[in-house]
Amino acid sequence: MSDPSSTISPRSSPISAEDADTLAFDGARDVLRAWLAGLRPDPDLTVSEWADRHRKLSSRASAEPGQYRTARTPYMGEVMDRLSPGDPTQRVVFMKAAQVGATEAGNNWIGFVIHQAPGPMLAVQPTVELAKRNSRQRIDPLIEESPELRERIKPARSRDAGNTMLSKEFAGGILIMTGANSAVGLRSTPARYIFLDEVDA
Ligand SMILES: Nc1ncnc2c1ncn2[C@@H]1O[C@H](COP(=O)(O)OP(=O)(O)OP(=O)(O)O)[C@@H](O)[C@H]1O
Ligand SMILES: [Mg+2]
Repeated sequence: MSDPSSTISPRSSPISAEDADTLAFDGARDVLRAWLAGLRPDPDLTVSEWADRHRKLSSRASAEPGQYRTARTPYMGEVMDRLSPGDPTQRVVFMKAAQVGATEAGNNWIGFVIHQAPGPMLAVQPTVELAKRNSRQRIDPLIEESPELRERIKPARSRDAGNTMLSKEFAGGILIMTGANSAVGLRSTPARYIFLDEVDA
């Protein structure tokens, strides 16, 4: 058998899905497209840039519904940008006053991960009860209000949705929500991203 890469790309220009026509089997184009999508690196976009473009604050969950603007809470800009995959920071700790937009910034991070840099993510609230409430009141609207997120997470009522109150599946990742009081919920969960919201409460 010859080296398959020489069949796909005899030249040095980038491979595209159209090159699959040179491969002689059904579905070659789909296989190559999926493979190239998997190779694509995380985009050079920050969480605050993503939020300014794609995040809508729902009237169900926000004091000021509408388009999210980082300029409204500018001190959250750097916090969000340190959470971006292009930033080398591994751990962000935010010591804060009440109601300054911290959970909202964390939710922007969740939206960014689902849309732009998928991977397993663990979102922890102080208790499982609060995790459920947060899921209903803030995560569901986060998904519903952004078309880019809505198309990646199927509604909970559809069959085979991979979507329950405490876990939301999407291509390339899963968001698992739990409480800091649940040792069982925290165990055995490999995660690329961990969002701990006021767990010391
Ligand atoms: N950039 C923004 N533009 C408009 N409204 C915002 C913005 N950031 C946060 N808010 C709103 O401010 C309110 C408080 O936000 P949030 O719940 O994120 O704050 P918090 O710091 O997590 O509060 P708490 O201390 O109660 O946990 C919410 O209604 C939220 O939607
Ligand atoms: Mg909060």
